[in-house]
Amino acid sequence: MALPSPSPGATVIVTGASSGIGEQIARRLTDLGHGVTLVARRGDRLEALATELRRATGVTVGVEVCDLGDDAARWSLIGRISEADVHVSGVVNNAGFGTYGRFDGLPFDREQAMVRLNVLALHELTGAFLWPMVEAGAGAILNVASVAAFQPLPGFATYAATKSFVQTFSESLHAELAGTGVSVTTLSPGPVATEFGEVAGVGNIEDSAPGGAVPAGDVAAAAVRGMLHGKRSVVPGVATKGMVLGGRLIPRTLLLPAAKRAAGVRLRNPQK
Ligand SMILES: NC(=O)c1ccc[n+]([C@@H]2O[C@H](COP(=O)([O-])OP(=O)(O)OC[C@H]3O[C@@H](n4cnc5c(N)ncnc54)[C@H](OP(=O)(O)O)[C@@H]3O)[C@@H](O)[C@H]2O)c1
Repeated sequence: MALPSPSPGATVIVTGASSGIGEQIARRLTDLGHGVTLVARRGDRLEALATELRRATGVTVGVEVCDLGDDAARWSLIGRISEADVHVSGVVNNAGFGTYGRFDGLPFDREQAMVRLNVLALHELTGAFLWPMVEAGAGAILNVASVAAFQPLPGFATYAATKSFVQTFSESLHAELAGTGVSVTTLSPGPVATEFGEVAGVGNIEDSAPGGAVPAGDVAAAAVRGMLHGKRSVVPGVATKGMVLGGRLIPRTLLLPAAKRAAGVRLRNPQK
């Protein structure tokens, strides 16, 4: 139950590889000799990273420019990779984003796009590439959840719900697949210094995280270690482990008002 050793003709798909945690995971995997297929929308960034990784490591690096929130684009990507002369030994479902604010004040189409990317794309890529791995008796999937998965989060209602899905789905698969040679690992980071904060509209994560942010490289190193060993769950950092425990144990009647207070002023009536 682990990521198979690198071999020519094998690739690990990494979604959201154009920045942040995904980029760092791609760097880590290629350092270890794994071929990778980089997926995201910003092709210029993917091409630049691919060129750098090929030069530095000599491994095969593919680039797939794809909006994973678009049904047709996603199916076409799955078709291209499935029909290519390449063996998918691993999938890192990392692409994702969040939004911040009261649900009724946020653009609804963006909330739905988040569900399509964070939930539907991850579910489909897992479904598409899992069965050939099970047939081969080897393979590893890494699904990126969040500390947000472990409790409801006022201000991040849709985001927390999407990450709960990822965590519950992935841990169930991990148990189902025991003994098949295929592992499913859930990565649940706390605040990480990436572009996530800017995209979510909360600014720099380093400024807004009470205990500071964990570097993306450290999160990626822990994630890849977990994938290599077929671990069920990876929660990088002591503070993050504390948050997960709190989310699991603190009664909702106490947790929800405290979380709402912490979420701040933007949860007031968005119409005012
Ligand atoms: N940073 C944190 O504090 C934190 C904490 C817990 C969990 N996470 C999770 O970690 C994962 C990676 O986030 P990050 O922190 O590294 O943020 P990031 O720097 O914003 O990276 C997000 C990645 O997802 C890609 N992406 C976004 N929308 C996409 C789409 N429609 N189709 C294809 N790719 C898309 C982006 O690439 P393009 O824009 O080029 O498409 C980018 O490569 C996410 O699932 C996030 O929820 C982050």
